[in-house]
Amino acid sequence: MMPVMHSKPFLRLLALLVIGISCYSTNAGAGAFEDDEACLMCHKYIRMARITEEGVFRSYYVPPNTFSKTVHRNVPCRDCHGYIKQLPHRKVEEGVRCDQECHSKKNPATGKPFSHKTIYNLYADSVHARDKNATGLDSDKPYCITCHTNPVYNPNEVEPPKEILDRCELCHEKRDFVKQWYFHTSRRVLDVKRTGQEIVAICIRCHADQELIERHKNAADEEGRPLGDKFTIAATSYQKSFHGKVTRYGLAGAATCLDCHADNSQYYKGVHKILPSRNPESPVSQQNRVKTCQRCHENADANYAFVDPHPSFDEEFNPILHKAEAIYGVVGEVVVLALVGLSLFETLGRRRDGVGWRLRRGSTWWRRSRRYRNRIIPR
Ligand code: HEC
Ligand code: HEC
Ligand code: HEC
Ligand code: HEC
Ligand code: HEC
Ligand code: HEC
Ligand code: HEC
Repeated sequence: MMPVMHSKPFLRLLALLVIGISCYSTNAGAGAFEDDEACLMCHKYIRMARITEEGVFRSYYVPPNTFSKTVHRNVPCRDCHGYIKQLPHRKVEEGVRCDQECHSKKNPATGKPFSHKTIYNLYADSVHARDKNATGLDSDKPYCITCHTNPVYNPNEVEPPKEILDRCELCHEKRDFVKQWYFHTSRRVLDVKRTGQEIVAICIRCHADQELIERHKNAADEEGRPLGDKFTIAATSYQKSFHGKVTRYGLAGAATCLDCHADNSQYYKGVHKILPSRNPESPVSQQNRVKTCQRCHENADANYAFVDPHPSFDEEFNPILHKAEAIYGVVGEVVVLALVGLSLFETLGRRRDGVGWRLRRGSTWWRRSRRYRNRIIPR
């Protein structure tokens, strides 16, 4: 349950919070959330919202009970909203950057302040790299919060098995501690990965946006910067492909965007470091394509990998297929027309003969005919 969200951050937050409240409002959290920084003094009020000059509704409401169930519930507000230095605070103009270091959380493995820098650095090398407050063309690219909200900590939160907690408690002595760590790990062991359809939805949100595509195509042409051949039709062509259709009808296992464009030998790293196909490191580069198909199509060879995963019958991409499709289109229509016409003539002819419709013994055409071609039910 990881909803794909819309472009406005506040809507995203709001939607999540609303979902969260409705599902979890009666449930006590794993580790109650403490408002040491007094942010909720103001932000706990549901009415805390306004309509901006552009007419956009913005909510500044942070429901404590929901926040305390999210993955970031143990991160103090100002570890993320570090630009707030005093209370009451000034108008906020900066955004939250996802490569910041937490002041109050240490990575237990390294002892250093926790951060998402590992992921951020991969992302910084990817085609989608941009700055938090990017403007212009770069602002079209996805930032972390384009794909991630602040999801509830454990979507299927059920009481952990007593035998396991009893065993952990034997050494760790504190029930709350072991329970929290049990959840921490089990969340990652449980499969909370997005479904194929959700992944496609994330990518096509931009890659099917014709205006965005045109902006980038034009800019690239002007700058003499390369873009992949299939850049302009990536999403539409995928949806026409075998993989796309199969995924759309809900079958798991057919290749989604990330099965091909992310290095699946290190999936969680790979999804953050998407490279263009012209980069030899990309799993869909000429060098790696066969290997990528072989993950699922064991017997794939260079010929198999030659099958275009972004097929297009457009003249620009495939003039021969384009003509063939046009011809088949005409042939198809003629055949249908001819069939309909034939039945029509046949029906008219029989009606003129005075033959009536009556369903009996497998035929609708039982009647004495004017032209001595009787079709009478034998008794
Ligand atoms: C005294 C009341 C008050 C307190 C305490 C308070 N805020 Fe706010 N906050 C506001 C108001 C009012 C707004 C709406 C400002 C506006 O309309 O631009 C706001 C807006 C915000 C925004 C959104 C700004 C934007 O335009 O994107 C953030 C983020 C925020 N507060 C974080 C915090 C954090 C973190 C704390 C605790 C360290 C905190 N606030 C404490 C009153 C408060
Ligand atoms: C893990 C980091 C993180 C933590 C912890 C966090 N926030 Fe946020 N918050 C964000 C992000 C990201 C946004 C979206 C705006 C942005 O990108 O700057 C946001 C947005 C907001 C907004 C503005 C909504 C809007 O319309 O833009 C408010 C208000 C807010 N947070 C308050 C709080 C309060 C109060 C807390 C503590 C209870 C808190 N946040 C904890 C990351 C965080
Ligand atoms: C284009 C979309 C996209 C962008 C941008 C993105 N991610 Fe991800 N992220 C994913 C996908 C897909 C997964 C794999 C999990 C899944 O399938 O839901 C993932 C997984 C993760 C995970 C592992 C979650 C877990 O609990 O196992 C973390 C942490 C993460 N991303 C952080 C980030 C950060 C930080 C950034 C910004 C530097 C970022 N992501 C940018 C799509 C994205
Ligand atoms: C036989 C005793 C024992 C049992 C049983 C046990 N632990 Fe531990 N655990 C330890 C010891 C000792 C350490 C410190 C290890 C070290 O520093 O090498 C530790 C460390 C940890 C840490 C790392 C804490 C930190 O901040 O570094 C976590 C988390 C943890 N255990 C969780 C669990 C969970 C969850 C269970 C049950 C599934 C469990 N443990 C069962 C003895 C145990
Ligand atoms: C928020 C919008 C957005 C989302 C979401 C998004 N992309 Fe992109 N993508 C872009 C933009 C913008 C470019 C850069 C075009 C340029 O270089 O001008 C790009 C570039 C690319 C390129 C390289 C194009 C080239 O020829 O250089 C690939 C491959 C790609 N994206 C794949 C994906 C995949 C796979 C996903 C889903 C996980 C995804 N994108 C999600 C906006 C997005
Ligand atoms: C079966 C593997 C496969 C799947 C699934 C797939 N792609 Fe591709 N994609 C490729 C290959 C191979 C190329 C290079 C094709 C070429 O240049 O002829 C490519 C090219 C692209 C390009 C042009 C930029 C570049 O790197 O050449 C974009 C953008 C893109 N794909 C996005 C997507 C998106 C978005 C999805 C999901 C909606 C998707 N792809 C699904 C294999 C795949
Ligand atoms: C994540 C797994 C996965 C990857 C990676 C993948 N495919 Fe597929 N592909 C499938 C599945 C599943 C089907 C439907 C299987 C079936 O029923 O035959 C399919 C079907 C096809 C078909 C339809 C005909 C057939 O052989 O069944 C073609 C063609 C195809 N894939 C080509 C490719 C090519 C080329 C690549 C590499 C660029 C590729 N695939 C990568 C999973 C994948």
